[in-house]
Amino acid sequence: MKILLTGANGQVGYELWRTLQYIGEVIPTTRTGTEIAGMPTVTLNLSDAADIEKKVNAIQPDIICNAAAYTAVDEAENSQVIAYTINSDAPAIFAKYAVITDTRLIHYSTDYVFSGTSSQPWLEDDKCNPQGIYADSKMLGEQAIIDSGCQYMIFRTAWVFSDRAHNFMNSMLKLAQVNDELNIVDDQIGSPTWASSIAMATAMTLRNPVDGLYHMTSSGKTSWCGFARRIFSQAEKLGLIDRIPKINGIPTSQYPTPASRPSYSVLDCNKLKSTFDIKMPNWQTSLQLCMQNIRRQN
Ligand SMILES: NC(=O)c1ccc[n+]([C@@H]2O[C@H](COP(=O)([O-])OP(=O)(O)OC[C@H]3O[C@@H](n4cnc5c(N)ncnc54)[C@H](OP(=O)(O)O)[C@@H]3O)[C@@H](O)[C@H]2O)c1
Repeated sequence: MKILLTGANGQVGYELWRTLQYIGEVIPTTRTGTEIAGMPTVTLNLSDAADIEKKVNAIQPDIICNAAAYTAVDEAENSQVIAYTINSDAPAIFAKYAVITDTRLIHYSTDYVFSGTSSQPWLEDDKCNPQGIYADSKMLGEQAIIDSGCQYMIFRTAWVFSDRAHNFMNSMLKLAQVNDELNIVDDQIGSPTWASSIAMATAMTLRNPVDGLYHMTSSGKTSWCGFARRIFSQAEKLGLIDRIPKINGIPTSQYPTPASRPSYSVLDCNKLKSTFDIKMPNWQTSLQLCMQNIRRQN
């Protein structure tokens, strides 16, 4: 089984590269064909439609796993063209190819497709109401795949962290080195999810794929402030920081961003469980395991 992987240098893409090797031959691709951990990758720029068609036709994969995305949520407000090109148009091109060639398309989407005005975990069929350009572009990407009629599995995930990329956890660890006190938003609730869990769960679904849209996040929920507190307590135990900064929980209104975020974006993952018998681990354990990796690297 040949698997064309996009975004192999991203949080989720890198973990997929490691994990999907147990399923088939992975062809890792990156925007600039960069070498990762001494290994070459194929150049595949998702903003170049002709390049996408050329590469998929040359590689002829059995599975396309699209982990690449324009993920700069705030920058997307001023970079609409590129956000829609990568998050909506590129998945549509993959889907069109998948229909013609009977290829299966694996794709990732986001909790941000929802408005956030609920207090119950969101179900797959709940109405989308994206609040910004990134979220809207991701929703259109989902729709293009579903409307194409190709074989697909779309996994909506949330608040992704990993040991090797730019994310909230790594930002907090850096900030803790230079700040005695931090103000962190305490009224947005979601489920921090380890990129490694997403890769593992994806591999499990590929044993017996069932087309559809699924929610795939850690179990449990917290606020950004709660997430930060846990990061710091773990980091101190592991010797990654010298001392825990004072943390002040603040409302979103005191931390305005160009793109608004859902205030409650917890996803109900029961469909993933009932279809594939996958129980997603809780975010606290995942965080602990992820941070152990950082200690080993230091
Ligand atoms: N991060 C989160 O918190 C989060 C939350 C919910 C859902 N998701 C979804 O989960 C999936 C994986 O996200 P992630 O956290 O792994 O994101 P990430 O770490 O930002 O990785 C995204 C990857 O996409 C690549 N990419 C961007 N533009 C490209 C282009 N024009 N051509 C080829 N590759 C391009 C990036 O490459 P460069 O580094 O070269 O730009 C990067 O390696 C995405 O679909 C995302 O929308 C993420």
